[in-house]
Amino acid sequence: MSAAQSSNVSAAESRKGSLTAWIDARFPMTRMFKEHASEYYAPKNFNFWYYFGSLALVVLVIQIVTGIFLTMNYKPSAEDAFASVEYIMRDVDWGWLIRYMHSTGASAFFIVVYLHMFRGLMYGSYKNPRELIWIFGMLIYLCLMAEAFFGYLLPWGNMSYWGAQVIVSLFGAIPFGIGEVLVDWIRGDYYISDITLNRFFALHVIALPLALVFLVIAHILALHEVGSNNPDGVEIKKLKGPDGRPVDGIPFHPYYTVKDLVGFIVFAALFASVVFFAPEMGGYFLEHANFDPADPLLTPEHIAPVWYFTPYYAILRAVPNKLLGVVLMGAAVLIFFFLPWLDRAKVKSIRYRGWIFKTFLFAFATSFIALGYLGLQPATEGYTLAARVFTVVYFAFFLLMPWYSKIDKTKPVPDRVTYHAH
Ligand code: HEM
Repeated sequence: MSAAQSSNVSAAESRKGSLTAWIDARFPMTRMFKEHASEYYAPKNFNFWYYFGSLALVVLVIQIVTGIFLTMNYKPSAEDAFASVEYIMRDVDWGWLIRYMHSTGASAFFIVVYLHMFRGLMYGSYKNPRELIWIFGMLIYLCLMAEAFFGYLLPWGNMSYWGAQVIVSLFGAIPFGIGEVLVDWIRGDYYISDITLNRFFALHVIALPLALVFLVIAHILALHEVGSNNPDGVEIKKLKGPDGRPVDGIPFHPYYTVKDLVGFIVFAALFASVVFFAPEMGGYFLEHANFDPADPLLTPEHIAPVWYFTPYYAILRAVPNKLLGVVLMGAAVLIFFFLPWLDRAKVKSIRYRGWIFKTFLFAFATSFIALGYLGLQPATEGYTLAARVFTVVYFAFFLLMPWYSKIDKTKPVPDRVTYHAH
């Protein structure tokens, strides 16, 4: 350490004379707290929709903590997996609570993330300069889907088995013999076996959670670099007071930490109600067929993924050709990445957009929910036809966007955010 550095260290220590000072002289603790909390200026007009980012963080923590405790008693082998989950449910102290929190957490994650993404669509949060926040968000979403898919095989129930069988075999649709090789490579065997279970376990407990955590950090760093959007879509950094701070901004801490605490309490109450009173959620959160152990000789009567995948599953089934179905299903997810460049409107928020965007967004949200419902139903002729119609509506929202977002009549955006004190 140079003389200058050591005098800096002791100056900082004597100024505060506390543990904080000791740490700050060696690690940028206070500086980071200021940058990301007490001096991070967020728009003062956040509404209900802005709860879901912090709630997604809460669910991430729930999943990691409960996951660690589940792993202490779970056995990743085809021989023992199902019985080890039963053991956790019946014999491990509080094991049932940990497992129900983890299974409910999986569905809660998607509910929270879907609402979080919908907020982005409403307020144009993906638009310049927030493209990277959106791209990191989409990468998080892809990891989350993979994480849920791998986790679903672990209890080794019959739906775990057949669900994995159906999804892995989709890769077989890739032509030129590549598909078949790929399917064997993913499974590590000629069928879904103990080997498959072991590798899915490795991916579920370490690879994807690690990727998720890094991506969430990148997501928030990108957000703090450009600043949060808000329900008016007004850039608060454009109007600063004499102190150099945005006039429409308030420090994230304590104002939004307190607001987010309210969201957390409501969420915790809802979450606990499900965990304690309806953990299976009528077969939507924990499917009935998964209470039977995996049986390669007994296909469940009706194979459907968990509800959060069913919009895409409905798109897959709506297409008669397998390869085309797989391509469309993949496109339905990946197309979200391109939103920042598909949207050519001058305004961000739905508040100042015209009726065309509002109609398309409403139609898109309806089609997503309808496809989610249809993906859970048997593929009868009527349902398949409906799924085709909604698939067209789904893609129309994205593919026609460059056109309708340009011609849509927008309203003038105010200079300041709209805020009514309560
Ligand atoms: C584990 C999952 C996720 C976590 C923990 C997370 C966390 C957060 C947090 C804490 C914020 C700031 C608070 C807020 O604006 O609500 C935020 C903002 C944002 N997130 Fe996420 N996020 C996740 C997934 C996603 C996904 C999947 C997307 C979209 C594909 C996304 C897009 C955005 C956007 C665009 C913003 C800026 C919103 C604005 O300023 O209006 N996030 N995220």
